[in-house]
Amino acid sequence: MRNSPSRWGWLAQILHWGTALLIIITIPVGWWANELERGATERVLFDLHFAIGVIIFSLVGARLVWRMFDTAPVLPTDLSPVLKRAAKGTHFLLYLILLTMIVSGYVIQVHMRPSLDVFGLLQIPRAFEPGDDESLRALAWYVHTYGVWVLGGLVTLHTIAALWHHFVRRDDALSRMLPFATREES
Ligand code: HEM
Ligand code: HEM
Repeated sequence: MRNSPSRWGWLAQILHWGTALLIIITIPVGWWANELERGATERVLFDLHFAIGVIIFSLVGARLVWRMFDTAPVLPTDLSPVLKRAAKGTHFLLYLILLTMIVSGYVIQVHMRPSLDVFGLLQIPRAFEPGDDESLRALAWYVHTYGVWVLGGLVTLHTIAALWHHFVRRDDALSRMLPFATREES
């Protein structure tokens, strides 16, 4: 379960791939819902988008908590200091943009819906009551709508880097995040 100096543990792997999968699902759901006229399908898609958002929030929260208690594996020792900093910086920005998407989505949701329930199963508390001023909602909408492109750019960069490590550099940076180790075992 715990990370070792050379491998991510299974809990960190589940949290990483679970978040990645849900993000890949929720982006088209958000876009599709946004294209539709108000109605039953639009409502179901936004409910789904909201429910997935709540799970992403839980996974990212769990990841950050787990990250404080467990030590991350060390980056390949022969990687240049510049690339090490680039990797750490990208990971930090990924966490930051995920939290930004979650908070902005939540702010829009509070403005849009009187009840924040997840398919009637779970009630999410409302942190504030929206006033008459629409500027907060407008700001959150801009952040959420354009933030998804920042997220997409960072994920693309991150994925290219992981594939570069695996296929060009041929180190264990990717395989140690996979459930089956194709290179170096811990
Ligand atoms: C990483 C997580 C998330 C991603 C990648 C994401 C992505 C998106 C995308 C692509 C759209 C369509 C925007 C457009 O085309 O203009 C959207 C809309 C929306 N999302 Fe998210 N979202 C995320 C999390 C959340 C969360 C956690 C909530 C609620 C708590 C949420 C609530 C909404 C709402 C209410 C809209 C409709 C905005 C509007 O048109 O007024 N999202 N999201
Ligand atoms: C939406 C998609 C994704 C998100 C949001 C994401 C996010 C992250 C974050 C925040 C970390 C840093 C973990 C930490 O230090 O706590 C990480 C690590 C990692 N990710 Fe992703 N990731 C995504 C998709 C992918 C994909 C598609 C791949 C591979 C093709 C990948 C491969 C890796 C690897 C190998 C690591 C470990 C890097 C290391 O050991 O330093 N990720 N990811």
